[in-house]
Amino acid sequence: MANQKLWGGRFSMGAAEILDTFNASLPFDKKLYKQDILGSKIHAQMLAKCGILTQEEANLISKGLEQVKSEIENGTFKFIISDEDIHLAIEKRLIEIIGEVGKKLHTARSRNDQVALDFRLFVLDSNKHLRFLVLNLITTLLNIARDHTQSMLPGMTHLQHAQPINFGFLLCAYACMFVRDFERLESSYQRNNYCPLGAAALAGTPYDTDRYFVAKQLGFTAPMLNATDSVSDRDFALDFLYDTSLLIMHISRLAEELVLWSSYEFKFITLSDAYSTGSSIMPQKKNPDVPELLRGKSGRVYGNLMSLLVVMKGLPLAYNKDTQEDKERVFDSFETLEISLRILNSALETMTIHTDFMLKACRVGHLSATDLADFLVQHCRIPFREAHHITGKAVAYAETLQKDLSELSVEELCCVDSRIPKEAHKSLDLKASMESRNSYGGTSTQSTLVQIESLEAWLNLAKNTLEEV
Ligand code: ARG
Repeated sequence: MANQKLWGGRFSMGAAEILDTFNASLPFDKKLYKQDILGSKIHAQMLAKCGILTQEEANLISKGLEQVKSEIENGTFKFIISDEDIHLAIEKRLIEIIGEVGKKLHTARSRNDQVALDFRLFVLDSNKHLRFLVLNLITTLLNIARDHTQSMLPGMTHLQHAQPINFGFLLCAYACMFVRDFERLESSYQRNNYCPLGAAALAGTPYDTDRYFVAKQLGFTAPMLNATDSVSDRDFALDFLYDTSLLIMHISRLAEELVLWSSYEFKFITLSDAYSTGSSIMPQKKNPDVPELLRGKSGRVYGNLMSLLVVMKGLPLAYNKDTQEDKERVFDSFETLEISLRILNSALETMTIHTDFMLKACRVGHLSATDLADFLVQHCRIPFREAHHITGKAVAYAETLQKDLSELSVEELCCVDSRIPKEAHKSLDLKASMESRNSYGGTSTQSTLVQIESLEAWLNLAKNTLEEV
């Protein structure tokens, strides 16, 4: 019969063509072919080990599955929409290749635990891959940071000049965010590394199977405890979508800085020509399209998280077809992060850093005002509120002279208020201001180097744990 389904025993009529289009996940879930074939091979081995299949049957199934895999990889495999999904397409082809024995593969499992396995394996692989790229990004940030622990620029709050900091220190702040992203992915990996295969449709199986064998062979910590949870859980996908949302949020914040820094107003960096674009009408322009796109990509990644949260809300146990909507969201977030991390890394590696413009920017905005107030507190026993007020007067006076506070002479400073001693003048020095912030986590060169070293130590450990996974 035309359009005959593997599950078509009770049906007297083939599916309507439009249903195939609506129902099928094959156009996108064919990405899961490797995971599907791997899961099936281990499942067949387990069936043989438990005496449910003979060893010869399991070997024949494995061989057949290998052939299916090479057909997919060399492009000769025919993806037919009426086959519905990658699981049925592969099983059907297996039966065509090895005959009757192929029909035994689906013993003691269901497509519900099969898709839960394949998709979970995909998410875990993607998680590992993104962690690897995050480590590369942190490495790049630290390499730049090491060269710039003395490069002063204005630290900002409200995008207004606040206090002098060094560029290495600023990059360490981003490195810290990406460390958390790595750790977030790592903990999601550990939490979700449990095997759903063997749950069958929703209630387990009457066959005497060995779920621990399957879990171990596939690299999981253990089988999932409850069969119904195994087939209906998509928390692993949501964890991934949340983890990638935070990751792209951090990327987007750094991208925003790159956009600002590469403008004429800042001129702190120049993006390499290889990572910039031109304007079709204005010949002089060099546009920061790369960081703008990195910033813009956060929209789709957050959308993917919202989308799956809504799909899952209100689903009764156990499997429901709604969850077929999970895959494209995850594929999209993975692919978006994959390219975003790589491109951000290269853009950072190839940008030119203009420390002269950073320093120039420090000479506006009275960056050492807090230092003067602190000096008055520490050396003149003036209460902070009062010191704040006196410093405010000094700032106003500097502005009348069209100078930065750091440019006032000793005489100019002392005439602001009789309580300001001559020695207070040294607190206006910008470099001294930066270096004085030597507290743990502060911006002094020494403190920044401590941060870089501790991030590097973390990086080495993280590299090792990633290799072990
Ligand atoms: N294509 C389906 C999905 O992605 C596979 C599971 C289908 N199971 C079922 N009983 N219809 O969710």
